[in-house]
Amino acid sequence: MAIRKIVTLGNDTLRKKSKPVVAFDESLGALLDDMKATMIEKQGVGISAVQVGVLRRAIVIELDEGEYLEVINPEIVKTKGKVCDKEGCLSVPGFYTDVERPRYVKITAFDRHGKKFEFEAEDYLARCVCHEIDHLNGVLFVDLTDEGKRYKKEHGVQ
Ligand code: CO
Repeated sequence: MAIRKIVTLGNDTLRKKSKPVVAFDESLGALLDDMKATMIEKQGVGISAVQVGVLRRAIVIELDEGEYLEVINPEIVKTKGKVCDKEGCLSVPGFYTDVERPRYVKITAFDRHGKKFEFEAEDYLARCVCHEIDHLNGVLFVDLTDEGKRYKKEHGVQ
């Protein structure tokens, strides 16, 4: 496992749409292991492959202390409700803003071996999943609020 460099706001890579994972092979496993190690090192609670510069639809999320969920090629199949709460991002260190997200999401995805699964998430976990899926589409949480837009303007970044 290796700690990879985090791509930060202002870098064009973060704005690109990630491609689906097609090969569920050793290099995908290594990427996920590195993403997890990097997330732990940087004290994040979620990370997408694009944040380590790899444009593939892969996410790692912390569930509980020492428990992690790997989510490949996720699709949101159902959402319910709306909640506004504080968010941050490893790619935008030191900035936090209240973002509105679904209270509940149902997701289909694949594990690292290419096995399809479905899961439901609520509240904090739903927020985390939606934030990471946005990353796969080149969207950052700073795009979603006036405070975030102001932050980008002040820092001269897109
Ligand atoms: Co983020």
